Formats: sequence, structure tokens, C-alpha cells
Amino acid sequence: MDRETRKEVLLTTLGLRAGYGGKPVLQGLEIEVRETEIVAVIGRNGVGKSTLMKSLIGLVPAMSGSIVYRGEPIELLPAHKRARLGIGYVPQGRDVFPRLTVGENIAVGAAINGDIPEEGRKRVVDAFPILEERWHQRAGTMSGGQQQQLAIGRVLVADPHLILLDEPSEGIQPNIVQDIARNMVELNRKTGVTIILVEQNLDMIRAMAQRCYVMDKGRIVASLDGSALHDEMEMRRHLAV
Ligand SMILES: Nc1ncnc2c1ncn2[C@@H]1O[C@H](COP(=O)(O)OP(=O)(O)OP(=O)(O)O)[C@@H](O)[C@H]1O
Ligand SMILES: [Mg+2]
Repeated sequence: MDRETRKEVLLTTLGLRAGYGGKPVLQGLEIEVRETEIVAVIGRNGVGKSTLMKSLIGLVPAMSGSIVYRGEPIELLPAHKRARLGIGYVPQGRDVFPRLTVGENIAVGAAINGDIPEEGRKRVVDAFPILEERWHQRAGTMSGGQQQQLAIGRVLVADPHLILLDEPSEGIQPNIVQDIARNMVELNRKTGVTIILVEQNLDMIRAMAQRCYVMDKGRIVASLDGSALHDEMEMRRHLAV
């Protein structure tokens, strides 16, 4: 038995259908993610990657099918309850509050009125030291890469068990992409946090993911292991870049 198959299953979707206004985008999607894995979900624009992330956290309701997390069905739970079960969601485009400071944004992430617990603050600044330097700076004045680290920090403060990370590299300089990937991998090694990463940036996929699913038209059409991630032709074909 290899290492992957010994790990416990953390999250499974079965026949998941979800979409907008009664029209499904996800068409019976099935994935299985194990404890401590970093799994990428790739695919062309508009195939439903963000819809998948939103349906896992509960911002898009499931029309049918199931989402099983730590052995329990969660597809009927509202987003805040899924967050309380340890699922952290970092949306595409980051969505930080531009007029709030770094510290205030983090406090919102922790749903805290007042001071952030020291333990939570430490978790955030250990992962992303830049946020400590910029703690009192308004988020809107920071670079895209710094805002992305803040968006991730906002979920780290609540000590998530699973992080849903939607296109963190979008609009960010290549060297910062590598920094973020390195910090996330280190966090995964240190804490065992599981990560589902939606990405189209091949460098970030390779720097972070251990394996990947390929999505097309709301379904998983291929599952690639670690060695395939380094097959240039194969990856470019799936990303169609
Ligand atoms: N709020 C919405 N209301 C209606 N349709 C939507 C909504 N959000 C997305 N869609 C549609 O659902 C489909 C899937 O979109 P989704 O954002 O999940 O794709 P994606 O794979 O994340 O794309 P990208 O790579 O551009 O981020 C698209 O056809 C899109 O137009
Ligand atoms: Mg998207």
C-alpha cells in the first residue's frame, strides 16, 4: 500500500450537481480528498472550478448529490456552519476589505469583536510575516500578492482543517506566487492542513500540488498523479494555454 491510500478520506463529493437559477454547472462531480493532501483542480475558464469551491463551502447550494466531510454529510449546512467545522474558503479575487487594515480584516475572518487571540495572530504572521509588518496598513494600499496573503491569513486565524484556495496566483507577480506556494507547503508540512487548490498557473500547481483533478463542463474528466504534473505536454493540453 502506498502512502496516499493509507491516509483517511477527508472529503468526498458524490454525484454533486450545483449551479445558479436552477441551471446546474456541476454535473455530477466526484472527487475524493484525503487528510493532509494538497490537491489541485485545473481546467479552462468557465468549466465550474469556482462553482465547485462555492458549493463545498456552501455559498452555492447543492441541487443533488452529496458532500461528505469527516464522515458526515454537509451539503445541507449553511456556509458559517461548514466554516465552524474547519473549512476555510479563500475566494477568487481575494475580496479583502480595502478600507480596513490588515488587523481589522483578520478580525473579520475570525468573527471577532475586539482583540484577536494571540494564538490566532501568531498562526497568521508565522505563515505570512509580511502581514505583521503591515498590520496597521489599509488592505487597499497593498500589492495584489500582499492582499492574497491577507486573504489566506483571514482563514488561517480560525485554524482551518481544510483550506479551499481559488486561483491565488491571479494577477500576482511570479516571485510572489512562489513565495505564497512555499509558505502554503510549509504550513501543510507543519500542521497537516489539507488544501484544495484551484489554479491555472502551472508554476503554482507544480510548487504546491501533489496530484490534480482536471475539470471540464462541470465534471472531473481526468485525475493526474504527481509525475503527470511535470509532463509539460499533458498539463498544457488540460490547461489549454
Ligand atoms: N453568480 C452566477 N450566476 C450565474 N451564472 C454564473 C455565476 N457564476 C458563474 N456562473 C457561470 O457558471 C459557469 C462556471 O463558472 P465558474 O466561475 O465556476 O468557472 P471557473 O472554472 O471558476 O472559471 P474561471 O477560470 O474563469 O475562474 C460559467 O458559465 C459562468 O458564467
Ligand atoms: Mg473561477
